[in-house]
Amino acid sequence: MGEARIGIYGLGTMGSALALNLAEKGIRTAVTNQEPEWIAPFLTEAGPLAANLVPSETLEDFVASLATPRTILFMIPSGTPVDAMIERLRPLLGEGDTLIDGGNADFNDTRRRVADLEGTGLHFVGMGVSGGEEGARHGPSMMVGGTDHSWTQLQPMAEAIAAKFNGDPCVAHVGPDGAGHFVKTVHNGIEYADMQIIAEVYGLLRDGAGWDAARIGALFGEWRKGPLDSFLVEITAEVLGVTDPETGRPMVDLILDTAGQKGTGRWTVIEALKLGQSATAIEGAVAARSWSSEKAARGVASGMLPGPDGAELPDEATLEAAMLAARILTHAQGFRVLAAASEEFGWSLDLARIAEIWRAGCIIRSALLDDLAGALRGEMPEGHLILTPAFRAKLAETIPALRTTVIAAMQAGLPVPSLASALGWYDAMRQATGTANLVQAQRDFFGAHGFVRTDRPGATHGPWHKG
Ligand code: 6PG
Repeated sequence: MGEARIGIYGLGTMGSALALNLAEKGIRTAVTNQEPEWIAPFLTEAGPLAANLVPSETLEDFVASLATPRTILFMIPSGTPVDAMIERLRPLLGEGDTLIDGGNADFNDTRRRVADLEGTGLHFVGMGVSGGEEGARHGPSMMVGGTDHSWTQLQPMAEAIAAKFNGDPCVAHVGPDGAGHFVKTVHNGIEYADMQIIAEVYGLLRDGAGWDAARIGALFGEWRKGPLDSFLVEITAEVLGVTDPETGRPMVDLILDTAGQKGTGRWTVIEALKLGQSATAIEGAVAARSWSSEKAARGVASGMLPGPDGAELPDEATLEAAMLAARILTHAQGFRVLAAASEEFGWSLDLARIAEIWRAGCIIRSALLDDLAGALRGEMPEGHLILTPAFRAKLAETIPALRTTVIAAMQAGLPVPSLASALGWYDAMRQATGTANLVQAQRDFFGAHGFVRTDRPGATHGPWHKG
């Protein structure tokens, strides 16, 4: 039997950083990689930390170097590579061993893998890891799914390497099977919306007010000292201040305006819809990335589709408050999706704990998350964050600014899909009597789908086609 407490398969950027983080915390860590030639340079990079790393070139040696029950973390591309690795490792493993997928996996795949391994004695854990390379190396936020047995093995190591918020490790066993990957997916959905809201305000200042990158960066730098304090606002301020050494122009002005996406934002929207929810601010962000990829069409359309001549934009304080309102609504939508999934899959997610482990280490870490954690610990009327006393008060203060900003953007002809969708949701939620009565009447008229009357229970039909 080996002595390494955990093994990492996959020495790419994230795998290497996590292995070094574990080694630094005094945890003996077995390492291997599909291409064995990556191992030696990694050990050189590890320097003195290599004393806590146990390298192997074959899977057999890797497995043999681990203490039992074994804990193996895959840091490999999600999808079929994970299935292939499970199949290769299965014959080498025994009762009580745990396989962990630390990638951004589709939680449906994670649930399938957990079900496939049921009864084999092996455990499968989907673990969301946030914070990029820097986080993985010095303290990520981790959202762990799977069994209590696996968590017992992993907990001391995960807590040792996790980011800390006032000493509290930003890692939790959020629920069984796919819960960890689901929570990470929603984290990324919020990440998309958070980034998009920032980009929309950047667009208003650049295209509406004619500000240059450095000036906008300086404003974001100011904002991060207040209630908008967050990692994403901080890096935005920094990014906007960087100059291209070759041309002397702001770096951001030289970057092609087509955004990539690997899928987690889209998954959040898809899963929300499947759960009968709708995270519209996140959907606005996914849509904006998709539209951004139609670069050629936008170029043509810009000369063909007229818009307004421009309009006066709100002042900086109004934009700041508008961003805060939109961020609150985005997070509220994300947590609503988590609550719906928890109910659907019987996960008993502790939403306050999820907010707590997002306060440090992860990409969406922000001052707002600490406030959210507090509100989620208290009573949530109708399961909605926006109805908690703390957030009702914050929204009462900031929604007028969001409304002013959205109106101004629309009058100026500048796109704000996430800001506008967030406001649309807020206004829909305020309507005690909405307009779905008419939709129901239409459905019944053309398809006899039935409706419920307000003055008596049970489904009925309308007197539409009488003569
Ligand atoms: C994180 C990030 C990380 C990754 C995103 C990027 O939490 O550390 O979310 O997982 O940067 O998946 O996603 P896109 O490529 O889809 O923007």
